[in-house]
Amino acid sequence: MASYPELKDRVALITGAAQGIGAETARLFAQQGCKVAIVDIDADNGKKVADAIGQTGGTARLFKTDITDAASVEQCIAGIAQAFGGIDIVINCAGGYGRLATVEDMPIDEWDRTVTLNLRSVFLICKMAIPHLKKSKAGRIINVSSISGRTVHAASSPAYGAAKAGVTQLTRFLAFQLGPDNITANAVAPITTLTARVAALRSEADIERIASQVPLRRLAVPEDHAQAMLFLASDAAAYINGVVLDVNGGRVMM
Ligand SMILES: NC(=O)c1ccc[n+]([C@@H]2O[C@H](COP(=O)([O-])OP(=O)(O)OC[C@H]3O[C@@H](n4cnc5c(N)ncnc54)[C@H](O)[C@@H]3O)[C@@H](O)[C@H]2O)c1
Repeated sequence: MASYPELKDRVALITGAAQGIGAETARLFAQQGCKVAIVDIDADNGKKVADAIGQTGGTARLFKTDITDAASVEQCIAGIAQAFGGIDIVINCAGGYGRLATVEDMPIDEWDRTVTLNLRSVFLICKMAIPHLKKSKAGRIINVSSISGRTVHAASSPAYGAAKAGVTQLTRFLAFQLGPDNITANAVAPITTLTARVAALRSEADIERIASQVPLRRLAVPEDHAQAMLFLASDAAAYINGVVLDVNGGRVMM
């Protein structure tokens, strides 16, 4: 595994870290010596991830938060800053959608819920973390978008795709506005990823079919994205600002 000694003791806030890509990202950042704030609404699984990191000698703590709720985010950011003495890295990983739908069939409240979870949450976390990032010597924002925000395909939700496209554009504004404070903002855009949740939802045949459409002939695993985020957080990526890193085995170009 790549080693980034400069990340030691940096404080990394990671939303959606109770499971899936976020949990793997929390583990990898903790392995590099980061102090990890697990920000998730799921306290049971979030605590399990924090405890597992602690048992392997890392530092992680759960901050139970509803990232769609401004008061909850405000409390979370204040709690992390107090517990860890600041915030250096913000990773907005929580997101998702309930089901495939067309615009015509989508209930308005489902649109609102999906955009709120995937886009408003990123705005809230960034807005409230920025004063702390400005005090860091190398502030980083990494937003998790999706291939669904990069291109249109049937197996997605228009609310989700539109929100994830919004995440990439919000990332560019953050990169533009915070560059003078030596804060970079970038996004990663995953493809279907073999998390425990996705593996439980998809049949073997489904997984093989999706993999056959990827030039690398496999689905992503959470570590593929976590490694990309480690790089973007590292000093090696100090001059990379405002990009969307497609972590999809080449699928997006097809
Ligand atoms: N897994 C994939 O195939 C895939 C593909 C492309 C993009 N992505 C994106 O990657 C990110 C992670 O995906 P995943 O599949 O690992 O996610 P996941 O569904 O496994 O986990 C999402 C986490 O977010 C948390 N969460 C949900 N609502 C929340 C809220 N209101 N407040 C705080 N926490 C909340 C959940 O408790 C959960 O721990 C998401 O943004 C997703 O859109 C995933």
